[in-house]
Amino acid sequence: MKSIYSSSADFYNKKTINSRDKFFQTYTTSDHTTKDLISIATDKLNSLAQPKILDIGTGNGFVLNEVAKNLNKRKKSELVGIDLSPEMVKRAKTYCADYNGIIILEADNFSIPFADNYFDVVTNKLSTNFSVSEVFRVLKKGGLFIFKEYGLLKGMGVIAETFKDRVNVIDPVIYLKKIRDHKPQNMMYSQFYFEKSYTKDEIRNILAMAPIIRDFNEKKDMKIIKSLFAEGNITITSDPFLIVVVK
Ligand SMILES: C[S@@+](CC[C@H](N)C(=O)[O-])C[C@H]1O[C@@H](n2cnc3c(N)ncnc32)[C@H](O)[C@@H]1O
Repeated sequence: MKSIYSSSADFYNKKTINSRDKFFQTYTTSDHTTKDLISIATDKLNSLAQPKILDIGTGNGFVLNEVAKNLNKRKKSELVGIDLSPEMVKRAKTYCADYNGIIILEADNFSIPFADNYFDVVTNKLSTNFSVSEVFRVLKKGGLFIFKEYGLLKGMGVIAETFKDRVNVIDPVIYLKKIRDHKPQNMMYSQFYFEKSYTKDEIRNILAMAPIIRDFNEKKDMKIIKSLFAEGNITITSDPFLIVVVK
């Protein structure tokens, strides 16, 4: 079944991807959930003789690149990333070029082009458009699904509350219920909250490069955002969560 949420893949065109690249050249974060996602995935893969990992909604292939750096048996492993945006696929192929074992495919998270029980690990970093059933189908028994997203604040506290009718957000409980329907052997959910300081320019760049607020209008919406704050940086509550599932 297709998601009830519209796909964000169309959003990731040349313009937004260039903004993304620029933003991440200077971005630093104290959020450890991405590091955790990568180290949990890598530990599992390193325990296997011929490990196979799939990263859904792979974007520029960041997760696979990080995993590849720390993989013991890289030659015997299979690293696959899928994304529905042709521009992102191009970007990922360039970004992952140092690791020639990484395969990037243009494909839909709702129809993963692999056989049942194929992968040892499936990762998903910030791709809200995906099918839990498809993840369970392609994952081996005992395999891991590791998922990082943002909670009801969509990582942007006061901004999400201000634009609540236009925020692309899914309650983590919905994911958890869908996962539970597949009777996993085990599952862990960790919700984090931390304060992060942004300049107004950084906020504008984030909203322009990620579909957090639907139909973001830079002129009108930045006026509202600027009116919320006095001079100086903006401190925002970020709310990443991590779900780790054993099939
Ligand atoms: C927020 S980005 C995350 C990219 C990457 N995982 C990261 O964390 O940097 C979401 C990605 O999911 C992709 N996407 C959206 N809907 C998709 C779908 N139905 N199937 C595959 N990819 C999809 C988008 O094109 C985009 O690259």
